[in-house]
Amino acid sequence: MKFQDALLGLAAVSFAASSANAALTLAQNYSGSTFFDAWTFVNGIDTNTTGNVLYQTREQAASEQLAFINSAGNAIMKVDNTTSGVNDPTFGRPSIKIMSNATVPAGSLVLMDAVHMPFGCSVWPAFWMQGPNWPNDGEIDIVENVNLAANNRYTLHTLDGCTHPAADVSSTIETGIVESTDCFNATNGDEGCIVQDPSTNSYGAGFAQNGGGVFAMLWNDTGIMIWFFNRSSIPSDLPTANPNPSSWPTPTAFWPSSSCDTAQFFSPQTLIFDTTICGNFAGAADIFNPSCTGTCTDLVADPGNYNDAYFEVSYVRVFTK
Ligand SMILES: *[C@@H]1O[C@H](CO)[C@@H](O)[C@H](O)[C@H]1NC(C)=O
Ligand SMILES: *[C@@H]1O[C@H](CO)[C@@H](O)[C@H](O)[C@H]1NC(C)=O
Ligand SMILES: *[C@@H]1O[C@H](CO)[C@@H](O)[C@H](O)[C@H]1NC(C)=O
Ligand SMILES: *[C@@H]1O[C@H](CO)[C@@H](O)[C@H](O)[C@H]1NC(C)=O
Ligand SMILES: *[C@@H]1O[C@H](CO)[C@@H](O)[C@H](O)[C@H]1NC(C)=O
Ligand SMILES: *[C@@H]1O[C@H](CO)[C@@H](O)[C@H](O)[C@H]1NC(C)=O
Ligand SMILES: *[C@@H]1O[C@H](CO)[C@@H](O)[C@H](O)[C@H]1NC(C)=O
Repeated sequence: MKFQDALLGLAAVSFAASSANAALTLAQNYSGSTFFDAWTFVNGIDTNTTGNVLYQTREQAASEQLAFINSAGNAIMKVDNTTSGVNDPTFGRPSIKIMSNATVPAGSLVLMDAVHMPFGCSVWPAFWMQGPNWPNDGEIDIVENVNLAANNRYTLHTLDGCTHPAADVSSTIETGIVESTDCFNATNGDEGCIVQDPSTNSYGAGFAQNGGGVFAMLWNDTGIMIWFFNRSSIPSDLPTANPNPSSWPTPTAFWPSSSCDTAQFFSPQTLIFDTTICGNFAGAADIFNPSCTGTCTDLVADPGNYNDAYFEVSYVRVFTK
């Protein structure tokens, strides 16, 4: 009996220690009618990635119904699909780019639940984060792909010295497929260190048809981990006030701190949603032509190409230690 009591005591101590490690508290809860309140709408043409869009102010976006809360209570961020640009050679299609007022520090968990994300030929959406000074303060791309791609991609961009493990190690630490290992922005035209999601329900039409899902990014001293959970595989603790990533399965993408010292390469990150058109990723001929025909910029003027170019987001939550 005494021996059993001692064992129970030990179990209680280790349980307390592990829940203390896992203790994450809600820092930001972007949802419902207040979803857009703590973000800054970027206004202007897409100077950073040379896309054919004109990002709208919050007031313009609301009056044009490009950023609003729909009847389901979800945040819509869409590309204009009603304006023709045929007679305007410098036409920039109205779109949305928002940056969070609050930053995400080390020790945080970011959750983003969406039921639809933008897709279509020429469309380039992203949900991502970056520090104040690029690339010195790092960039973490949680959602990003282009055109008719079926699989999401997870990517870091950094200064020199941060890498993702090679394929043999990758298969033991993550379910995604490593595409490139050097996160340094000057390598291979700043492609970054990319892990591709193995599921065709992680992006585009497949994502929308399957009811979307949740992307979760955890950044702690062990490294940066990203999970994609489709609608039917979301851990029961994830949407609660006490998400516990240590109970979740193997991450989809994992950059261990042993090959990327996250304290060195990442500063507190600003969250960003945007959708651009063509530009230096979606519009590059070798990227555009495998899934779409013609020249990317020829599509911009026709609003009918943008009916699927919208985010429908249930919530974004940030938990911090
Ligand atoms: C976020 O920043 C924008 C300006 O950049 C401001 O208009 C808005 O009120 C801020 N939101 C909050 C909740 O502070
Ligand atoms: C370009 O990037 C900088 C740095 O992140 C940002 O402040 C600015 O708003 C961006 N401009 C556009 C048009 O996206
Ligand atoms: C990488 O970052 C450095 C430092 O800011 C910059 O000079 C360089 O142009 C960047 N390279 C690419 C390919 O973006
Ligand atoms: C959802 O995810 C689970 C777990 O990864 C997987 O077994 C299942 O096939 C996925 N379902 C769809 C429709 O993608
Ligand atoms: C975030 O806010 C929504 C809407 O007010 C609420 O339903 C949800 O419980 C909140 N989430 C957490 C983790 O508190
Ligand atoms: C980081 O989070 C992972 C997943 O929950 C966990 O296994 C690991 O122990 C954490 N690292 C630290 C230093 O807390
Ligand atoms: C524009 O796209 C929305 C979906 O975001 C769709 O409901 C609507 O019918 C489209 N408008 C036109 C004119 O096709």
